[in-house]
Amino acid sequence: MSSIAPNSAHLSDLCILIIDDNLDNADLIEAFLDEQGYTNLQKASTFAEGVKILEKHSVSLIILDVMMPEVDGITACRMIKGDERWRDIPVIMATARTDLDTLRSGFEAGASDYVRKPIINAIELLARVRNLLAMHCEMVLRLEHEQELREINQQLEERVQQEVAKNWEKDQMVIHQSRLAEMGEMIGNIAHQWRQPLNIVGLTVEDVVDNFHSKTVTNAFLDAALEKITNQLSYMSKTIDDFANFFKPEKEKTVFLLKHSIERVLSLIQPVFEMHHITIDAQCDSGCFIYGYPQEFMQVLLNILNNSRDVLEEKQAGERLVTIRCQSHDNDTIMTIRDNGGGIPEAVLPRIFNPYFTTKSAAKGTGIGLYMSKMIIERNMCGTIQAANVEGGAEFTLFLPSKCDVTLIGE
Ligand SMILES: Nc1ncnc2c1ncn2[C@@H]1O[C@H](COP(=O)(O)OP(=O)(O)OP(=O)(O)O)[C@@H](O)[C@H]1O
Ligand SMILES: [Mg+2]
Repeated sequence: MSSIAPNSAHLSDLCILIIDDNLDNADLIEAFLDEQGYTNLQKASTFAEGVKILEKHSVSLIILDVMMPEVDGITACRMIKGDERWRDIPVIMATARTDLDTLRSGFEAGASDYVRKPIINAIELLARVRNLLAMHCEMVLRLEHEQELREINQQLEERVQQEVAKNWEKDQMVIHQSRLAEMGEMIGNIAHQWRQPLNIVGLTVEDVVDNFHSKTVTNAFLDAALEKITNQLSYMSKTIDDFANFFKPEKEKTVFLLKHSIERVLSLIQPVFEMHHITIDAQCDSGCFIYGYPQEFMQVLLNILNNSRDVLEEKQAGERLVTIRCQSHDNDTIMTIRDNGGGIPEAVLPRIFNPYFTTKSAAKGTGIGLYMSKMIIERNMCGTIQAANVEGGAEFTLFLPSKCDVTLIGE
């Protein structure tokens, strides 16, 4: 839409359509307007002719005779106002009948104003023409501004969406990297968990071979040995299943029991923690239900516990302890994970949730564990995660609501 300034220089350029079956009347109006510098004038002697002009020209004002054969002015006005291409064009009724009923019908049909016929002097006509053209210009300008604003808003929305998409891609990369790092750690865990059953299977097989050579194999001995081997193999197979499930992509958010997530994570990491003489004391209300992707949540637990393991491994003296507590309040759950590994240096504390922030060597840490945990808890599960130093160590507090309606990272 072109911009039209509501000043007189521009007003006189605007197109005015005169619809009147009486040619003398139309000519008179034309002459009055022309004298005042309105040069863009169109005339029609019937409504049908007027419609043709409306279709061809960008009309800004219509002066419409009320008494016309075929389609009268009131009906014509109603039809113009009923067409969305022309409904904003102001209409001045030109009428010899200025009784209330005629005027009311005209205004009800959508006319903006009227002039009395016969038009003896131009003052009334020109004042109304000028006012209505100015109002029309104002309206066009306002519509233009609104349209511009809509376009700006639209562009802003697109920019926001682009940024969100970019962030999403970045998050995906971070999640992927973090998963790779975890997979590496998990393989370490599995190897550790397999060591003992592999030993037992090896020793049992040796035992069977020795007994076979010394001819002391009995049925009962063989049964016991086979049972031992089968038990160890099924334990190893379960370990692999747990591992595979942990990395299986999840399709749906669900309500799940916090206690189960903790138990599953502990079963994966316990052997390594035991190896480092770290005790995990976990107590969780059995009524703590949370909502989200269970595997993602386990990843969060794993990130926090692995951090505790890293500091406790280095602890020279005293007990190495991780304490997990969870309680539900009005369906929401508060969980704390605390260690006694000495805490997070105060200077570092404000930055630990930043991506790629780490105080560890490149081989030990990438700095995305806590960043990712924060994204999962705060963006995907509508919760919060905070860290603080407590006596002797670090404490992570997770607020986990039982409801969350956001789009998930990875969806
Ligand atoms: N329990 C803790 N005690 C002391 N410092 C901690 C603890 N947890 C986290 N930190 C500090 O926060 C930093 C960031 O932790 P984060 O888990 O994000 O990365 P990271 O462990 O260094 O690397 P990774 O990506 O392998 O997890 C750590 O480098 C460490 O300095
Ligand atoms: Mg970490």
